Amino acid sequence: MSIQPTPSPALDLPTPQRRRLLTAGLFAGGSLLAGSSVPLAALAAEVGRAGGFFAQLDSLPPGSADEVSIGDAYQVQLLFAWGDPISDGPQGRADASDDAAAQAQQAGMHHDGMHFFPFTKTGQRDPTHGLLCVNHEYTDDGLLHRDGLLNWSADKVAKSKAAHGVSVIEIRRDGTRWQVVRPSPWARRITADTPCQLSGPARAHPAMLTAADRWGQTVHGTLNNCAMGVTPWGTYLTCEENFNTYFKGSQTPQRSQQRYGIHAQSGRYRWHEFDPRFDLEQHPNEANRFGWVVEIDPFKPAAAPIKHTALGRFKHEGATCTLAADGRVVVYMGDDERFEYIYKFVSHGRYLPGMDNPGQLLTDGTLYVARFDRQGKGEWLALRYGEKYAKGALTADYGFANQGDVVIRCREAADLAGATPMDRPEWIAVHPQTGEAFVTLTNNSQRSQDGKPSADEANPRPNNRFGHIIRWREQRQDAAANRFTWQVLSLAGETLHGELDGDAFANPDGLWFDPQGHLWIQTDISSSSLNKGAFTPFGNNQMLVADLAQGRVHRFLSGPRHCELTGISSSPDGHTLFVNIQHPGESPSERSDPTQPTAISAWPANQFPDAVGGRPRSATLAITRRDGQPLIF
Ligand code: FEO
Ligand code: CA
Ligand code: CA
Repeated sequence: MSIQPTPSPALDLPTPQRRRLLTAGLFAGGSLLAGSSVPLAALAAEVGRAGGFFAQLDSLPPGSADEVSIGDAYQVQLLFAWGDPISDGPQGRADASDDAAAQAQQAGMHHDGMHFFPFTKTGQRDPTHGLLCVNHEYTDDGLLHRDGLLNWSADKVAKSKAAHGVSVIEIRRDGTRWQVVRPSPWARRITADTPCQLSGPARAHPAMLTAADRWGQTVHGTLNNCAMGVTPWGTYLTCEENFNTYFKGSQTPQRSQQRYGIHAQSGRYRWHEFDPRFDLEQHPNEANRFGWVVEIDPFKPAAAPIKHTALGRFKHEGATCTLAADGRVVVYMGDDERFEYIYKFVSHGRYLPGMDNPGQLLTDGTLYVARFDRQGKGEWLALRYGEKYAKGALTADYGFANQGDVVIRCREAADLAGATPMDRPEWIAVHPQTGEAFVTLTNNSQRSQDGKPSADEANPRPNNRFGHIIRWREQRQDAAANRFTWQVLSLAGETLHGELDGDAFANPDGLWFDPQGHLWIQTDISSSSLNKGAFTPFGNNQMLVADLAQGRVHRFLSGPRHCELTGISSSPDGHTLFVNIQHPGESPSERSDPTQPTAISAWPANQFPDAVGGRPRSATLAITRRDGQPLIF
């Protein structure tokens, strides 16, 4: 099967010839990528060296063991694994015989994006006590139920929904050890059934009303919560990614459904068999209520999450917030699918610390999509009702009657605007000193619609198998600008090409700047490729850290078998790094055999004697230095 996409010329980069051309352009300053982004050497002069711990860091070798491996200077604590109670509920059982009600009081499956929100004491952020928000992206129903998908039932669907969403837990450090505070008035699980509100241009749109809610405007639940964002006012943004896979479409899906991958075979979680909300033949608008950025205030445990429709509907990876020069809120977002786009939202209002109801800023603004050109320049194209582009207009002539239509069918609007298809945009990180933005483009390998690796992925074409990271700088260093310049930071692979030297990595996904300006990179090589063929040199999925001023990247941590690394945050004093291990032991089908649950991985119980065993479990780690000094400095 050959790949016949039509990606933009700018990012149709990594065929072997293209790769040589590209790297020649990078190193020689040739015309291909001669944008005016500041080279890293100049960046070093501009911001000074990143903090000092990097100089002391020894690289780890690639890992293949079923454990978390890290340098001797560090210690790793298991903080919060699938099945652990969020408060005073029951501990999950080794054989996964817990019911849905128990699961709704426990950590969900497949930890993803995460953020630590410290409490404030006497006007200062307390680095030892706060709330941790953790996304639970999806489930492996082979592991979630004692007998897996056998005897599929309403109870199993209820438990699967309860294992999705977000956990908010209270955590505290006593001496060197972190613990989940139990019971806690702050602890909360948000699941695929939790009532959520809508805001913005699609809030009361007819396409958002459904009989499943008696034609009301309360959405039930959030799902496939992937990466995240943090607002300037200290709330959490959780992002709905592959929502299409939960909805069974009709034999004749609408064009707008097909554009998001909704069709007769798309209900792979089998929720529709017992919850008609997920059967689009019964509730055709229900899928329109997913694919949004959802705001959660962790400090208001009774407040409903809010789906902010002004930020567009697509397969949201993350929602990285920054401020424009004039104080408007800017949110960078990737649509993680092969040859989808990068977006940004710019609020109309300005953020003022202490203002009333700052969440209103996410209800009204301009949504843009990015166009990248070959010359290292780029442009933000407004997805505004009435806007006209060469390919068409966002008007009734092209099926858009109002801004609600534009945000609900955001991908179609971006197609008309002429956005640049990208190699699966994952996390976006903004440099804390320069404001420059960085995005991981994890690969452009083909996957079949049901998420199983296709023959094409097993035998990849010479395309962008290993992924890359690019960076862009907004004009005038103003995040609200309409134009930017861009450059490749690093083409991943056994040999890195670009502006980073050091340890090899592939398929970058998680990306985060610590407050000192180190760039942390988390990888997601698919379970079907790990430690095989061209992916052998990389070992297990891993986390690396780069000092951009030096142009160096070191492997910092290697994960257990068949996990991916995703989710990263720190305590405000840099003492502790929180990191998530997602889906250890994942089988290539993403559906494990319940009769052999530990066939691939027995982590974390094989490494942490206090952990509940029986099954591999996604988990949050708290990583500190053994000498008690800050990890990040
Ligand atoms: Fe949920 Fe794109 O990773
Ligand atoms: Ca990801
Ligand atoms: Ca991923």
